[in-house]
This record gives sequence, structure tokens and C-alpha cells, in this order.
Amino acid sequence: MKRLIAPSLLAANFNNLAADIEMINHSDADWIHCDIMDGVFVPNISFGIPVVEHISRIAAKPLDVHLMISDPDRFIVPFARAGASNLTVHWETCPHLHRTIGLIKDQGITASICLNPHTPVHLLEHMLPDLHMVLLMSVNPGFGGQKFIEETLVKVEILHEMILRKNPACLIEVDGGVNFETGRRLFDAGAHVLVVGSFVFTSENPAETISLLKKI
Ligand code: DX5
Ligand code: ZN
Repeated sequence: MKRLIAPSLLAANFNNLAADIEMINHSDADWIHCDIMDGVFVPNISFGIPVVEHISRIAAKPLDVHLMISDPDRFIVPFARAGASNLTVHWETCPHLHRTIGLIKDQGITASICLNPHTPVHLLEHMLPDLHMVLLMSVNPGFGGQKFIEETLVKVEILHEMILRKNPACLIEVDGGVNFETGRRLFDAGAHVLVVGSFVFTSENPAETISLLKKI
């Protein structure tokens, strides 16, 4: 089974973002995770389209863009043009989710859905055939460095069984509080992609931490 690592730039050094992107470029990381927060859907503001565009100019790995924003339909085309390889929207922000996923795919990139910790996985049953990936939040979105919510493991197991039935190509990504210990349990439960922010960037040797995460 696939075991991918997507370091989250939210925990990178924004005084020298290029250096951290270079580190990821030369590491065993698979994707670069970009957290977009609007201060409305989540209680924090991060960065937006121009920053993603600059990141994409020097990134050698696909940009996995996580939209924690209200009414994401308005920003799908700009983020796709800025260089996103994948756009993930939150189930909680999309009243017409099927249309939103179609709009993302129309841009020639992959489309994924994220669920907050309280949102049950069965709500995605009829969307799974259309998805590249499901992102399960294992913390409440908005901040890095939070504690892993244990119930996420149960959600991974249920979702794993659902995707085998509905779309075996669909990936399961988990975001928040991932370290060697939670990461290993998530991979064992059926996760394919781990987003890792503070655990990578506060470690002494981030590139080595990424390599070790791939082997847990
Ligand atoms: C949280 C973000 C995460 C965050 C993870 O809202 O979606 O991607 O960067 O950070 P850690 O790994 O520190 O929990
Ligand atoms: Zn994220």
C-alpha cells in the first residue's frame, strides 16, 4: 500500500520559505501541503494565491492545497492557475459538493474532500467514485501543533472499507498531530498519506525526519 508524506508549510520558516522548500525538494517527501485559511471557516488566516504561486515556482513536488475557506468555488480557478496539483475542499463548506468537485476537475487537477473531526465518513459514500482523495482532519483545522484526536483511527478504518467497495484508487490522507507514533498507527489503519507540520519542522533534521516517517 502507498505510504506518502506531505510536509505542511504552515510550520515552515516564513522568513526563509525558499530554504524549507529546497529542503523538501531534496527530501523523500512526496507532496508539499499548503494550508489556506480565511479567518472565517477557521479561526486563523494563513496565506493565499500569490504565495502559492511563488511556492509553485520553486517547488519540485506536487502542491497539495488544502482550502480551509468558506465558499471555495470562488477560488478554485485562481488556485489551480497558481500551481495547485490537488485541491481539497471541506465537506462543511460546500452545499453543492458534486458541482464543486466537477469544477476542480475541469481545471485538469485532482479533486479531494476534507472532513472535520466531527463529520462522519459515511456522508461521503456517494462522492467516493469521483474523488482522488479524502482528507480526514485529526485536529480541529486552523492551527498546527495540536494534539491528535484518537477517534480519527476509527474513521480511517471505516473509510478504508468504504473505498475498497466504491473506489479502490481513492487515497486516504490524515492531517494534524502526526508524529512517529500516531503516524504508524494511521498507516496500519489504512491511511495512505500523512500531512506532517510541526513534527517535521521542529525536529533537528527535518529531511531525516521525513525519511524516517516514510519507513515507520
Ligand atoms: C491544520 C492544518 C494542518 C497543520 C498540521 O489546520 O490543516 O495541515 O499544518 O500541523 P501539525 O502537523 O503541526 O498538527
Ligand atoms: Zn492541512
